[in-house]
Amino acid sequence: MAETVKEMLSEEELANRIKELGEQISKDYEGEEVFLVCILKGAAFFACELAKRISVPVTIDFMATSSYGSGTVSTGEVQIKKDLDLGVEGKNVIIVEDIIDSGNTLNYLSNIFKDRKAKSVKMCAMLDKPERREVDVPMDYIGFTIPDAFVVGYGLDYDQKYRNLPYIGVVEFD
Ligand code: IMP
Ligand code: MG
Repeated sequence: MAETVKEMLSEEELANRIKELGEQISKDYEGEEVFLVCILKGAAFFACELAKRISVPVTIDFMATSSYGSGTVSTGEVQIKKDLDLGVEGKNVIIVEDIIDSGNTLNYLSNIFKDRKAKSVKMCAMLDKPERREVDVPMDYIGFTIPDAFVVGYGLDYDQKYRNLPYIGVVEFD
């Protein structure tokens, strides 16, 4: 199946919004430190850019959860494929995701960090597709709210392709 990608959010729009999110987080955590939990692989590009825009002390670590495989529909089941190297007890955790879709991933992860006795747990996603929500998850930081479309770029993939696009695009299947 062939597909084409049409730009939805430009490199500049993304950079500007990430700067704003970084400033907001720096303000919210003034006098504190934050522990960014980046969900691999999709959120890696976003988390690194965001980390550079935060002015309070930042620790960053990486975790991988089960994904969609090569399809575009969530299975609803979440599994940890790679856990953090560092402990989160007593830390101000911010889970950094590429996109919140059904909400299953973030719902599952927020409970995990509460069990691990984080001092606080907040959630940040670059993109939000609210139309597709199956579980209600309280989001603290959202980059952009987008309509229900399958998007790629800036870390997001379709069948492992397009993660390296510097913008967000919609995949059109023809
Ligand atoms: P959720 O658990 O359904 O909220 O799924 C979140 C995960 O699904 C994200 O971390 C992405 O890996 C993947 N995902 C959801 N929507 C898209 C999309 O439009 N493009 C690429 N990946 C997506
Ligand atoms: Mg993901």
